[in-house]
Amino acid sequence: MSFGTKGRVLRSAAFAAVMAVVGSPMVAEELFYVSGAVGNAVENFKNLVKPWEEKTGNKVTMVPMPASTTDQFAQYRLWLAAGTADIDLYQTDVIWAPQLADHFVDLTEVAKDLAPQHFPSIIESQTVNGKLVALPIFTDAPALYYRKDLLEKYGASVPKTWEELTATAQKIQDGERAAGKADLWGFVWQGNAYEGLTCDALEWVKSFGGGQVVEPDGSISINNPKAVAAIDLAKSWVGTISPDGVLAYQEEEARGVWQTGNAVFMRNWPYAYTLGNGADSAVKGLFDVAPLPSGGDNATSAATLGGWNVAVSKYSKHQEAAISLALYLAGPEAQKARALSESNLPTIVSLYDDADIAAQQPIIPRWKEVFMQAVPRPSAPTKGKYNEVSSKFWSAVHNSLSGNGTTAENLEALEADLADLKGDAW
Ligand code: GLC
Repeated sequence: MSFGTKGRVLRSAAFAAVMAVVGSPMVAEELFYVSGAVGNAVENFKNLVKPWEEKTGNKVTMVPMPASTTDQFAQYRLWLAAGTADIDLYQTDVIWAPQLADHFVDLTEVAKDLAPQHFPSIIESQTVNGKLVALPIFTDAPALYYRKDLLEKYGASVPKTWEELTATAQKIQDGERAAGKADLWGFVWQGNAYEGLTCDALEWVKSFGGGQVVEPDGSISINNPKAVAAIDLAKSWVGTISPDGVLAYQEEEARGVWQTGNAVFMRNWPYAYTLGNGADSAVKGLFDVAPLPSGGDNATSAATLGGWNVAVSKYSKHQEAAISLALYLAGPEAQKARALSESNLPTIVSLYDDADIAAQQPIIPRWKEVFMQAVPRPSAPTKGKYNEVSSKFWSAVHNSLSGNGTTAENLEALEADLADLKGDAW
């Protein structure tokens, strides 16, 4: 036995003896948790982890990232490729599992009691080659936010189709502007060239019956007349019912216009629900949510499936503590707290029957059906190439919305680009 090994044996024997007496780890560990942040997420995170910190004696520091999921992904990739030990846990978007799987600890065994409490499809989305690479902390499906007071004033009903939304938004915008509300817009959404536009545009296309860009079997479907019609309708909004600036909006910019009372409709995720009802919101009590409209002669609406997870880095030097934190964040106590403070949709089935959640955040039980039918982005069929697929899609859409080439030309070119990227197989 080498001296080094003997030293380690002695140290762990001493540690075990101390543990037996005190019953909990002696040395507090400090963990770094990296996450994107919208709304009050940074502030809320401190409260969220407090019970875990008190129980374990460990500390968690959140490293906030830019709000854009696209920017986060680029930074995460750099850190992970460099094998950094500085970050112990990563908050990961639902679409990233296949691309980042190799860098994360397999949580299958440690989560064997917790995983069955979650919706199976969400656990499935985070399972890559039989390895559970991240634990779900909340799921996401967008809503059409609408101003009850304005619809009532103009005798309009909640739009069921995008065409109806276009007409109602225009009518109310015209009426309110004529009455002096110069800053009022009909509809705000996410038009910036980033992952959020992939989500919005997938909803338009799918709800028009134009497919999911790349289908679950891997075939490329985006170049079709229904997709063109859907994107052309969205193009007609820019500069009419939506400001020109919408082409640079992400979630938070849309929420900013909405929450100051300057929009009739907004497409956004459930996090905007509790913020819109906050004390400092101009629309507090004045709005409600509905499923997104459908389009053309298609009768069903489409919501893109979003959601966030927590993954433990393989390069962390504090894996045991990091796993404990991941289990806590994905567990019922933290998910309930997050539902109450951020109106995030739980991934734990039983929380949809929780009376406190239903009373304080009524959107949550109502949105169970919406997220269960939500449309996944094609991250599973396109595997490690999803980010490139998505970036080619949002670029083609952004060009079309900006009048940079026609939609028909852009989707034809996109089809060819995706075929190149695919090669023989994704
Ligand atoms: C939300 C969704 C996420 C999506 C992002 C796009 O955060 O939960 O899945 O990628 O919006 O902006």
